[in-house]
Amino acid sequence: MNLKPLTINDKVVKFPIIQGGMGIRISLNKLASAAMNSGIVATISAAQPGFLNKNFRKNPVKSNIEALKYEIDKARANSKNGILGVNLMHAATHYDEYASFLAKQDIDFIVSGAGLPLDLPEYLAGSKVKGAFIISSGRAARIMLKSWDRRYNYMPAFIVCEGPLAGGHLGFSKEQMANGDYESLEKIVIDTKEVVKVYEEKYNIKIPIIAGGGVHDGHDMADMIKVGADGVQIATRFIATYECDVVESYKQMIIDAKEDDVVTTSSPAGLPGRVVRNFLTKTLEKHNLKRQYCVDCLKSCNKKDIPYCITEQLGNSTSGDNKGLIFTGAKAYLVEKMDYVENIVNEIIRDCKLDLKLSGGLL
Ligand SMILES: Cc1cc2nc3c(=O)[nH]c(=O)nc-3n(C[C@H](O)[C@H](O)[C@H](O)COP(=O)(O)O)c2cc1C
Repeated sequence: MNLKPLTINDKVVKFPIIQGGMGIRISLNKLASAAMNSGIVATISAAQPGFLNKNFRKNPVKSNIEALKYEIDKARANSKNGILGVNLMHAATHYDEYASFLAKQDIDFIVSGAGLPLDLPEYLAGSKVKGAFIISSGRAARIMLKSWDRRYNYMPAFIVCEGPLAGGHLGFSKEQMANGDYESLEKIVIDTKEVVKVYEEKYNIKIPIIAGGGVHDGHDMADMIKVGADGVQIATRFIATYECDVVESYKQMIIDAKEDDVVTTSSPAGLPGRVVRNFLTKTLEKHNLKRQYCVDCLKSCNKKDIPYCITEQLGNSTSGDNKGLIFTGAKAYLVEKMDYVENIVNEIIRDCKLDLKLSGGLL
């Protein structure tokens, strides 16, 4: 069994790894450039990139669009031929404005999760930018593909299967997370592979299946390839890199996190979120945190009755305040030191290839 290069929107990357999008202001142009120049796919996050703009609170959409333009152009200038995309959460307000804007930029894909982006192809008509989505069950993949096929005659550039060990918002309910009542990433990949078959035949295309959530090393990656994934999406591992755009204190929180420090909490998006336990999570055990302002960031936010404001708390921590929200994946405790993106990629690929070679005879 061999690792195959990954093709997205008619471009090929050497290594089938996607650097996952991380908001707020964690995965921007520096991490994206390093990812592309290390032979993997890069994702800039569209979650409040304009957070530090002085007009952000007054005009968040304009600030975010200006910041996205800056980050995309900068990343593209550093890697003309790399595969570059933007992660745009479907739960975000003004999704249509952001998607229409992104469809005109020099990127290869828009990938949307945090809800089902049933309408994404609408904004991509006539654009060279391709759409992709993130799901957490074979059932959701079926709904998405059926809808895009019927409504738009359109297929995704790839599908990310995100499992229960991922970072940020999770695609499972609070109850599922509490009871351990969720499918493994392996099962989601296997089910999704089954679902795409019929559409791959109908459109005579290959739809790459990417497995994300808890892929830390080459063995984790090999496990996903063995169950049929065409590649993996990795986010947490890339936070503690010299090139990651976020402040040093956030990187240090990830490096310092022990297994017990990684917990799930409720997000105002109505989804569980995985975080590093800190001042904020301890405070939330006692009472809610009043928000200081509102930029109307999430469609589903029940403004009057939220435990905290996600933009305020995540934006604070990614700007240097360790008392804010620290989103992370479950395997943060395995991140031990700062490193360069290229070293991490080379190590993961080396170990993955070795694992696949050694287990080849057993498959
Ligand atoms: C700090 C952090 C922020 C994230 N932000 C987003 C986001 O804004 N939108 C999104 O769709 N996924 C987000 N994710 C999920 C990642 O893109 C990725 O799919 C997932 O974390 C992969 O699992 P891993 O972190 O274990 O590698 C975030 C993850 C982390 C760790």
